[in-house]
Amino acid sequence: MKFFIDTANLGQIKEAQALGVLDGVTTNPSLMAKEGIKGDAAIKAHYQQICEIVDGDVSAEVFGTEYDDMIRQGEELAALHPQITIKLPCTKDGIRAVKYFSEKGVKTNCTLVFTVGQALLAAKAGATYVSPFVGRLDDISSDGVALVKEIVDVFNYYGYQTQVLAASIRHTQHIIDCMKAGADVATCPLKAILGLLNHPLTDKGVEIFVADAKKMEG
Ligand code: G3P
Repeated sequence: MKFFIDTANLGQIKEAQALGVLDGVTTNPSLMAKEGIKGDAAIKAHYQQICEIVDGDVSAEVFGTEYDDMIRQGEELAALHPQITIKLPCTKDGIRAVKYFSEKGVKTNCTLVFTVGQALLAAKAGATYVSPFVGRLDDISSDGVALVKEIVDVFNYYGYQTQVLAASIRHTQHIIDCMKAGADVATCPLKAILGLLNHPLTDKGVEIFVADAKKMEG
């Protein structure tokens, strides 16, 4: 399973990259706004900085809701760097735009997916990634991980190449559950990734080994 980090924060992206396990980055307008980025030039410069930090795909989301705006913005974003993946909402216009970019060989991430039917349309349009939102489904007493599993099963059954990118991951257990469900990618907050390391027996074991290593000092 690939690990993407779900943030526009350069410090966190650098920290995850330094860990050596990062495969890419996803952003969205909320995450970009949180970093205080304003204006077209600043947005583009920020994406370029992210691409310089990581080796893998960097999802940049279009802001427009109309097809023509999505195409214009997507073209501009795609021209920034070969690692840029155009993130488009799973709406009628968004699916048309996914088809447009996939035919041009530009990578796409179809986002805001909440049903297997939406995922199917994204796959048929040729999306590189489809992003079911796990946490937001859990928020409304629906089962986000079950949706990931359902999409994985349908894609495997029909042989769709679209990768299932579990998004809206809120905590470490979500990562583990999405891995077990067969997600190709999980995009996660840094805290959830680092949480995978936590185990009291690991901490205790290190403590004991450090103490015993001291006994061997000459
Ligand atoms: O990848 C999408 C993600 O950023 C949404 O997360 O926590 O706002 O539901 P959240």
